[in-house]
Amino acid sequence: MTAIRIDGATEAARLRGRVAEEVARLASAGIQPGLAVVLVGDDPASGVYVGSKKRLTVEVGMRSIDHVLPASTGERELLDLVAALNADPEVDGILVQLPLPAHIDAAKVLVAIDPDKDVDGFHPVNVGRLATGMPSLVPCTPQGCVRLAKTVLPDLAGLEAVVVGRSNIVGKPVAQLLLAESATVTIAHSRTRDLPEVCRRADILVAAVGRPEMIRGEWIRPGAVVIDVGINRVAGREPGKTRLVGDVAYAEAVAVAGAITPVPGGVGPMTIACLLANALQAACARRGLPLPAL
Ligand code: GUN
Repeated sequence: MTAIRIDGATEAARLRGRVAEEVARLASAGIQPGLAVVLVGDDPASGVYVGSKKRLTVEVGMRSIDHVLPASTGERELLDLVAALNADPEVDGILVQLPLPAHIDAAKVLVAIDPDKDVDGFHPVNVGRLATGMPSLVPCTPQGCVRLAKTVLPDLAGLEAVVVGRSNIVGKPVAQLLLAESATVTIAHSRTRDLPEVCRRADILVAAVGRPEMIRGEWIRPGAVVIDVGINRVAGREPGKTRLVGDVAYAEAVAVAGAITPVPGGVGPMTIACLLANALQAACARRGLPLPAL
């Protein structure tokens, strides 16, 4: 058996296209959603990511409001900027790029963001809304995982889902989303006993551990849907070259799974598309407009 390759680039382009259609409809009512991105410091990966965000924000017709601050920026200064963005009526969504420099308390900054502008869905109010089934802004990467799983399994009700990883950014929220879809959810992590056996239960396996190719083909139930969140840079086959791999040993998994997301080109492209969907949702919700189905 060779697994279906779940194409994240295609699904992300479809979602961005839908966002662009809805942004065009808002434009005819004189509304242009604004998405503010704050980058502190010069982490190269963050710089690349923020650059892509900016380009795609403009491509769907939204206003991109960018604040690039030096690594020496103080916590107070950043909190003052967040307060100004909260108060700015032109700003519908606020994203503070993580990681922040070590001298800034990221938790303090994230709780300072207005929950209704929190397009990352990291504010404890949005975490609580998601956990209690209230409408909320849903973290982008987890949202992307579930959107991709549903391209091959539209109804997740009653299925066994295993999430490997318990981070606040991916593991916990993806588990909440799968639960909201009525899957039976297990969150596994570094202290889980007999992890391969737990993974073999899964109809849907979400790997979000950040360890290159940790999940082996023999851990996967034949026919399972595998969503690989890992983006790990490892030594390439030629000296001096590197390549990206996921948390799943793809070549082994593809022979067992029913469907699988590749790395790159799987979950990765969905994150920014879901961010734009969240910015549109925030823009509509703040104006009391109905939320478009995307
Ligand atoms: N750094 C890596 N991924 C993300 C993300 O989704 N949001 C924010 N704010 N920072 C990140």
